[in-house]
Amino acid sequence: MPGEPAFPSAAEIEASLELAAERCEDLTPLVYARMFERHPEMKPHFWRDTDDAIKGEMLSRTFAALLDFVGQRTYADHMILSEMVTHEGYDVPRQVFATFFGFVRDAVREAAGADWTVEFDRAWVELLAQIDDYIAAASAPLLQPS
Ligand code: HEM
Repeated sequence: MPGEPAFPSAAEIEASLELAAERCEDLTPLVYARMFERHPEMKPHFWRDTDDAIKGEMLSRTFAALLDFVGQRTYADHMILSEMVTHEGYDVPRQVFATFFGFVRDAVREAAGADWTVEFDRAWVELLAQIDDYIAAASAPLLQPS
């Protein structure tokens, strides 16, 4: 239906992001510590980013995309797909690209601390699954030989 949110638990995702923002001035170090722990081979790709500005910009664009993805979904689905292709130019494989959203969830959960709820957890599990499905579905035609 027009105007209806694309994602049923949008309110929980929004509330968890608001809570994390209140509790933690900058989630950038939390997110990237996780990323570099899991994918140390990605660290050299940020050689240009001497002041962490690119990392911060990438994260803030990701937050905006997540909010749009759970809300009106005016651009986020297309943006995620086009960034996935752009990132291949940075030598970031699709499988690695897709893991970023999970690191964001982990950082939000850490910032929320004891105020993280079962509802937040469920909403993020659903959101990450939807993004994975979207990426898989969107990638499939691209992966076929022309
Ligand atoms: C683990 C997964 C990811 C890795 C390793 C990664 C890596 C990178 C790297 C190395 C750059 C900088 C390129 C340069 O030197 O200019 C970059 C930029 C960027 N990334 Fe990611 N990325 C990941 C996931 C994502 C996701 C999921 C999004 C959004 C949906 C995203 C959005 C962006 C944007 C918008 C920029 C450009 C920032 C700017 O304006 O300079 N990235 N990414």
